[in-house]
Amino acid sequence: MKTQILDANSPEAVALAARLFSQGELVGFPTETVYGLGANALDREAVLSIFAAKGRPADNPLIVHIWNRDQLEGLCTIPEGAEKLMDAFWPGPLTMLFPRTEKIPDEVTAGLPTVAIRMPSMPCTRRLLQVCGLPIAAPSANRSGRPSPTTAAHVMEDMEGRIPLILDGGECQVGLESTVLDLTHGQPTILRPGGITREMIAETLGTEVALAGSILRPLQPDEKALSPGMRYKHYAPKGNVTLVEGGEEAVLRELRERCLADRQEGRRSCVLCFTEHLEALRDCDPHDIGSRTDDREVAHRLFDTLRQLDHEGMETIYSEVVPPEGVGLAVMNRLGRAAAFRTIRV
Ligand code: TXA
Ligand code: MG
Repeated sequence: MKTQILDANSPEAVALAARLFSQGELVGFPTETVYGLGANALDREAVLSIFAAKGRPADNPLIVHIWNRDQLEGLCTIPEGAEKLMDAFWPGPLTMLFPRTEKIPDEVTAGLPTVAIRMPSMPCTRRLLQVCGLPIAAPSANRSGRPSPTTAAHVMEDMEGRIPLILDGGECQVGLESTVLDLTHGQPTILRPGGITREMIAETLGTEVALAGSILRPLQPDEKALSPGMRYKHYAPKGNVTLVEGGEEAVLRELRERCLADRQEGRRSCVLCFTEHLEALRDCDPHDIGSRTDDREVAHRLFDTLRQLDHEGMETIYSEVVPPEGVGLAVMNRLGRAAAFRTIRV
């Protein structure tokens, strides 16, 4: 199959994507978070082909994308607190779990009693969802286990020959996947942190918001994953990533020593560091993760940087960390998993 890339802002391209969706085909499309690999959520066969194209385990459920709240009608019921959060954060990078009806195929939810739904905010995504008029099931458009795509070129890298069309809307603004929030089990709980932060949700609801245990550590062998996706290795470049945490001077020294020691042993090695430290680490092939004062910039660049490491054939990578607050929590969840939570404290 030949994979075309067309401009996400062209009405003809959007019309073609809508036609492909209605015929049960897959389309890669941009959102403000990451690129999605979409199919008609009500078409069982089409949904199954998402799993095949990604190489995704069948027990990992998908997010359904809508452009307007009327589309919720008949698909799900609305848990307490959800309306307030929709008013505050939709359209935007917040996914919520809803008790679902029979209308949603089991293949979308991996048989769970809830369905994850979000309303993306990127204007071209909204137009696509409006023109096709269908709820669109879409995971991130990467091959399973790879970093999520934040450009159309990333999607092409992973999906060339597997899907007919990718809509190109440029770089994704947020750069990390949406926040996944569960309001169906008592205390609101973040299953996956993202651009809508714990602090923002707590302020809107006026209650405490819990975090799933495995956000900043590996899932224990006997622990049930609240969100099935958390079970799987994710976001990982091919090289070994190690995080280095501690006081500024000590971290810079450790990053440098580790990187240079690996090189001595003949390994391709580099560091991921803040813009402010590029100069101090100039002999360690520093990769800029953004300014230490701007965690949204770090989020925006992270997946592109992780993919870059593979292109360069890096074998060992040492990275600085951000405080796990605000969007920094989402950054540390993804970076932690890319590193299999290997951390050196200095
Ligand atoms: O930003 C995003 O959310 C992107 C764009 C394309 O919208 N999509 C995305 O989808 O990241 P995906 O499939 O890569 O991640 C969905 C996550 C997985 O961790 C999955 O386990 C979880 O949401 N999930 C989906 N439905 C669920 C459910 N009913 N209960 C618990 N977790 C669920
Ligand atoms: Mg994904």
